[in-house]
Amino acid sequence: MSIQTMALVGTGVMGMGIAQIAAQAGVNVLLFDARDGAAHTGKEKLKQTLDKLQAKGKLTEDDVKATLERLVVLDKLEQIKDADLVVEAIIENLEIKQTLFKQIEAVISPEAILVSNTSSLSVTALATACQHQGRVAGFHFFNPVPLMKIVEVIAGLVTDEHVIEELLDFAKRIGHLGVRTKDTPGFIVNHTGRAYSTEGLKILGEGVTTVSEIDRILRDGAGFRMGPLELFDLTALDVSHPVMESIYNQFYQEPRYRPHPLTRQMLTAGRVGRKVGHGFYQYVDGKKIDEAPLQSVPNITIFDKVWVATDLEQDADILKQYLNAQGIELDSAEDPANDSLCIVATYGEDATTTALRLGLNPEHVVAIDMITDFNRHRTLMPSLATSRHYKDQAHAIFAKDGTGVSVIAESVGFVAQRTLAMVINLACDIAQQQIATASDIDQAVKLGLGYPFGPLSWGDHLGAERILLILERMSAITLDPRYRPSPWLQRRAHLNLSLLHTA
Ligand SMILES: NC(=O)c1ccc[n+]([C@@H]2O[C@H](COP(=O)([O-])OP(=O)(O)OC[C@H]3O[C@@H](n4cnc5c(N)ncnc54)[C@H](O)[C@@H]3O)[C@@H](O)[C@H]2O)c1
Repeated sequence: MSIQTMALVGTGVMGMGIAQIAAQAGVNVLLFDARDGAAHTGKEKLKQTLDKLQAKGKLTEDDVKATLERLVVLDKLEQIKDADLVVEAIIENLEIKQTLFKQIEAVISPEAILVSNTSSLSVTALATACQHQGRVAGFHFFNPVPLMKIVEVIAGLVTDEHVIEELLDFAKRIGHLGVRTKDTPGFIVNHTGRAYSTEGLKILGEGVTTVSEIDRILRDGAGFRMGPLELFDLTALDVSHPVMESIYNQFYQEPRYRPHPLTRQMLTAGRVGRKVGHGFYQYVDGKKIDEAPLQSVPNITIFDKVWVATDLEQDADILKQYLNAQGIELDSAEDPANDSLCIVATYGEDATTTALRLGLNPEHVVAIDMITDFNRHRTLMPSLATSRHYKDQAHAIFAKDGTGVSVIAESVGFVAQRTLAMVINLACDIAQQQIATASDIDQAVKLGLGYPFGPLSWGDHLGAERILLILERMSAITLDPRYRPSPWLQRRAHLNLSLLHTA
């Protein structure tokens, strides 16, 4: 309970969010902004928010009154002198933040803690502006602060341990989960986020399928709340493209974070997303107007026999049960008959590679992605040589019970497999680099990115061996080091241990 008074410098979107949760938790908050009247306006807007919460019955009149009394607007920076903790949430610019840090240090006590809400700058670099560098840390909240109950507590190279501990305690006091993070580009959450965004772009760039279909597969099939391309439209490319470039370059062009030229071009053209009415989709009044409907299902009622091959036993059971239920005759011979449709549930390959590996006639082969929830959405991948006859039959068969089906062009690792494998593998690699503990990575990403599971729990749920198989095959076929499996994943998959397991 050592922190009694917090000063908040920079009363914009993030600053006022942090001020709100601290004041609601009983902390006295001093508000300062360099722009005349900005702190007053910030407090006034916050009053309106609190009034709305009161109207909804979420706060009492006394809560609102007490919270507002704890928020004190200052005219001069020097008036923050009695703060135990100073939170900086000004413009994202190293030199401007460093200048401010010097000014702050000149007025606060030597024991006070000084933190930045930076999302992309090095905390170690920020601290070099200060006399007492050990007191400087990162305190990275997410927007909107009151709803995103997670904060990364970032230790610079010379941050004192007691500072990190006090911040973790303080985070808890104000109702957030604090996760200890090393000072590395993107910290935990924005670092992990590279996998989903860049793989979505790579899939689009390879011509695997359309914008709508990529989003649909990852949303409906894989369980993400939003597809990667609609998510780009929401965050806007003027924000997200520079972050992609910055993290990639800060890690010295590590291929796992490789951005795509398409978003640079869209940014140049001003097609930055929803806020301008045009990004990957077009928007009118904030609503998408050109999302393509599900691909239409071929009208077929007579089917050939279906021969099934799967990498995993569990997939064979699901497929055979489904085909039986739909009245499709199975070809149960060891090798397919000359006129059977061959359905292959493969991992980490394209349909051509699987057909050749299994010695099948590629004209008869359609691959199916079994990593997605079979009852929610299905992805089919014919080989380049698959005939129209078998492609259409497969589409009709797997749409027969009304479940959505996406038919995609050849892609090593379909859409969902390669994306999930990238997300899980990157989280594994962050754990391997000891940027944070496995359990903190898992919780931070779930809360910070709104994934249905933490990425390591997700890997356990889908099976670490399966994820490893996808990555090993993708690496072998594409020769792209982007897909190399992290040692963290390899060891745990081989030893049949949870991805959250630590020595
Ligand atoms: N917006 C987000 O989603 C988000 C999320 C996490 C972290 N961040 C980080 O939080 C910080 C603030 O972002 P924001 O979106 O709230 O910005 P914002 O533009 O809404 O607010 C910044 C405020 O800082 C004030 N300011 C600028 N220079 C100042 C100075 N020298 N001294 C005092 N006040 C000054 C501005 O007048 C403005 O009111 C940035 O470092 C940003 O990277 C933002």
